[in-house]
Amino acid sequence: MLTGKHVVVGVSGGIAAYKTPLLIRLLRTAGAEVKVAATRNALEFVTELTLQTLSGNKVYSDVFAPTNDHSTEHVSLPDWADMMIIAPATANVLGKMANGIADDALTTTFLAMACPVLIAPAMNEKMYAHPALQRNLLTLNEMAHVTVLPCAEGFLACGATGTGRMLEPEEIFAAAEKQLTEQSLQGRRVLITAGPTQEKIDPVRFISNYSSGKMGIALAEEAALRGAEVTLVLGPTAMRPPHLPNLRVVDVVTAIDMHDAAMKTFPEADIIILCAAVADYRAARPAIEKIKRAGQDSMILELVENPDIAATLGARKRSNQKLIGFALETNDEEENALKKLSAKHLDMIVLNSLRQEGAAFGCDTNVVTLYDTDGRKTELPKMSKTDVAKRILDYI
Ligand code: CTP
Repeated sequence: MLTGKHVVVGVSGGIAAYKTPLLIRLLRTAGAEVKVAATRNALEFVTELTLQTLSGNKVYSDVFAPTNDHSTEHVSLPDWADMMIIAPATANVLGKMANGIADDALTTTFLAMACPVLIAPAMNEKMYAHPALQRNLLTLNEMAHVTVLPCAEGFLACGATGTGRMLEPEEIFAAAEKQLTEQSLQGRRVLITAGPTQEKIDPVRFISNYSSGKMGIALAEEAALRGAEVTLVLGPTAMRPPHLPNLRVVDVVTAIDMHDAAMKTFPEADIIILCAAVADYRAARPAIEKIKRAGQDSMILELVENPDIAATLGARKRSNQKLIGFALETNDEEENALKKLSAKHLDMIVLNSLRQEGAAFGCDTNVVTLYDTDGRKTELPKMSKTDVAKRILDYI
């Protein structure tokens, strides 16, 4: 969450400006206050009314407007801001900022800005590859408070395909959120398992469960935002974490795949959070061809036990590794959770009761209780999975 954070969004005149309103909306939804500084050209691509309505503030675009009741905006905005994001940054604006030229609302604001500045360039691939442009990017990146984000590859507005696209608003938002979050897990390696597993019965059927992976994805994102190197071993789900350079996703399908992927990363991990809803059993002999209806009232499918990833890691855990498990229960919740805490040699277990309203599969909220090996019990009220992730990481 960015509650209470002040963000200045700078917009320059490129076609990617049509995506900037989405970035503003993401920032506002996360609780940030937003003010916009735009070039005249930017307002050819996105209307002032749109930027004003979404930011909830007047747009600063004309340094000399006679009616301008905030003529020193380029000085007051930097005093107000915790961060500036320039998206899109055109080749022209990059050139000016790299060389200290300040001749409009955006570049004057940039020149007075001492807080962190994130720049998301966008242009044609030939312009992006030009040595003058690359030199300007280097110059900007050398400024201690400035971070230039890469351009993405793909379809460009000019019809060509290449590198020059602005990153998606979600990616720019994630980078901003990371910069504004205290790097309390810097230097730590975090391994997280999440989502369901699928155990094949035949080429068209499998055994699985309702897990969406949302809780584990929220944990992975939050740990990465706090600076950790995160490996997310993710079962089959439509959900994905945002693109963050320090968050690696390993896609798996079965419990055995998940076990093998987790075992690989486990030795280097400092914190291991086992959030996945692993299928406890798999078909003993998955059929090679589709199983046909046999005309009988019932059929017997033989199942064999899957590895218990948590128990395996618990048995191998070193004293400097923290192992956190989840328990999803429908009855005798506390008793079952405490049994799993000790049987699997966990340091902490997060109890999820399906009897609690707001804690269902696929829900955006969760209601959990944390138990640790020191006998502490912490009940958390119903909150978003993102907030649960923050509380769990604070606790660890
Ligand atoms: N877990 C795991 N590997 C398994 C099963 C569970 O790593 N094969 C982990 C889960 O990710 C979770 C914890 O163990 O962190 C408890 O999972 P749960 O399914 O509640 O426990 P089980 O031991 O499978 O017990 P149950 O009989 O209640 O299913």
